[in-house]
Amino acid sequence: MTPGSDQPVQSSVGLYGRLLAYVWPHWPRLAVSLVAMIVVAGATTGVAYLLKPVIDQIFIEEDETLLLLLPLGIIGMYLVKGVANYLETYLLSWIGQRAMRQLRDDLFARLLHMPLGFFSEHAAGTLISRLTYDVDQVERSITRGLSTLIKDTLTAVFLLGLVFYHDWQLALVSLIGLPLVIGPLARLTRKLRKSSRSSQLARASMTRVIEEGVVGNRVIKAFNGEDYEHARFHKESETHRKQNMRKAQATALSVPVMEIAAAICIALVIYYGGYRVMFGGDETTPGTFFSFLAALLMMYDPLKRLTKINPVIQQGLAAGERIFQMLDFHPEGNEGSRTLDRVRGELAFEDVWFEYEPGAPVLQGIDLEVPAGHVVALVGLSGAGKSTMVNLVPRFYRPDRGHIYLDGVDLGDLDLHFLRDQVAIVSQEVVLFNDTLAANIAYGRPDATREEVEEAARAAGVMEYVDRLEGGLDHVVGEGGARLSGGQRQRLAIARALLGDAPILILDEATSSLDPQSEKLVQRGLEQLMQDRTTLVIAHRLATIQRADAIAVMDSGRVVEQGSHAELLARGGIYAYLWETQFATPAEQSAETG
Ligand SMILES: Nc1ncnc2c1ncn2[C@@H]1O[C@H](COP(=O)(O)OP(=O)(O)OP(=O)(O)O)[C@@H](O)[C@H]1O
Ligand SMILES: [Mg+2]
Repeated sequence: MTPGSDQPVQSSVGLYGRLLAYVWPHWPRLAVSLVAMIVVAGATTGVAYLLKPVIDQIFIEEDETLLLLLPLGIIGMYLVKGVANYLETYLLSWIGQRAMRQLRDDLFARLLHMPLGFFSEHAAGTLISRLTYDVDQVERSITRGLSTLIKDTLTAVFLLGLVFYHDWQLALVSLIGLPLVIGPLARLTRKLRKSSRSSQLARASMTRVIEEGVVGNRVIKAFNGEDYEHARFHKESETHRKQNMRKAQATALSVPVMEIAAAICIALVIYYGGYRVMFGGDETTPGTFFSFLAALLMMYDPLKRLTKINPVIQQGLAAGERIFQMLDFHPEGNEGSRTLDRVRGELAFEDVWFEYEPGAPVLQGIDLEVPAGHVVALVGLSGAGKSTMVNLVPRFYRPDRGHIYLDGVDLGDLDLHFLRDQVAIVSQEVVLFNDTLAANIAYGRPDATREEVEEAARAAGVMEYVDRLEGGLDHVVGEGGARLSGGQRQRLAIARALLGDAPILILDEATSSLDPQSEKLVQRGLEQLMQDRTTLVIAHRLATIQRADAIAVMDSGRVVEQGSHAELLARGGIYAYLWETQFATPAEQSAETG
């Protein structure tokens, strides 16, 4: 398997090995719980065995010493079994929970370091269910799976041993029923496995629709998409129901099938055993027979659990497979190791090519120089590749061909962490964390003092609306900043970038127009921010274009025109067209041309 590919081709041996690696560090506890399991199995068998002297010595021979000793023995046996059972369950949970935490930590760490492309390929709901649901499944298969597999197998084997020890002929007779159980049960198990896999898939699609209903609710409302979404959801949840019913049917059938088979075994044993006690001489005493029957009956529960454990283990393995697939994904590479003492902030693109999908280059030989401290405005039609181009600067993506240089050093040679420290980004959509304003501003600079945060907030125009919020800078912004207006969110993002104080600034201006008042406030914050910084700004606002030292016009992944506003207008090319159609109001245009 090539790591990073999406095919689930793990050999199950490899899968077991990797899961074991999460359990193995706790082997001393595992060993103790193993011993405890042996004790439980032994004690259960011991109780079955004690029935023989109870019947033969107490009821038939009326032995008075044993009348006292045996009840005590039974209590002792159960005490030992109780302690062992507790130890086994507690320790296995302890191990399972540790393994689960480790797995989650590893997954989340890996998630954080995934390249951006990963997130556009995978739905958020799917990734979230890897970390929550799938990890739970693995934990269940470790705790319940191991306990049942070892403890119940041991118990069944010990009891079987006792049964053969008591009377091997009778034991053989009782086993006649076994093929009766195994045949249909194997078929049921296969069915269960298949249906539980489909049920998980159905659940994942359902989760995706729910997630879109939550995250995209505003759009759904705006486009009256409720009925469509509801119909879509109903379809998914109906599929989920059907798959679950298949699973439920197989599960419901397995108990009666087992019990009927068991009843046949017991009937055989009673008939043949009773016959031998009555007519078979003194070999089989009533005590032996009852102890035999008890052991046989006691085998039923562990056997039943054993047949039921397979789906749990299968689900755990399937979840483990999905988890490891994600862990095998290539994280973001950090091949570079260089850092620079002082960054001036000179950026240069040299014949930069990039494609998201093979064969469809989005950037086709970008050449652009941004001298230190200059502001270059990028303009171009939607889809021209502007956002893509600026995303290469913090190395969210790597160019397929060509180079980008910072102060003459190839970005690929720089340490990733260092590089990102040099770049501040204010993007089209402001992402805020559900925390206080102050914490959102200080994101990326957790060491910043309160004064520094306030200064950045003041410069970005955050202070102008802070007083109206309860708690001021300690006001919690709500999930994604839901409790702030668009302009307020943007000013917060500007404050965050100001505090970061990186020499390079990337601005992807929001296309949504703000009202003139907020626009002016945001603009003021931006001007503060651009001061003394190399700025690459994707411009949608007239004011930004006017403020720029140079304008680069993009079309189909190339920089096709470069120059000042006046030069570009005079050329009468794409810029002149954009100017007419997008940027200027009619009054401004006539002022410019007339
Ligand atoms: N994650 C992605 N995966 C695949 N293709 C993408 C991805 N992001 C963008 N593209 C494609 O790359 C092209 C350029 O997109 P980009 O976002 O750079 O345009 P843009 O110039 O920023 O447009 P806008 O002004 O609308 O923001 C588009 O054709 C788009 O379909
Ligand atoms: Mg864009």
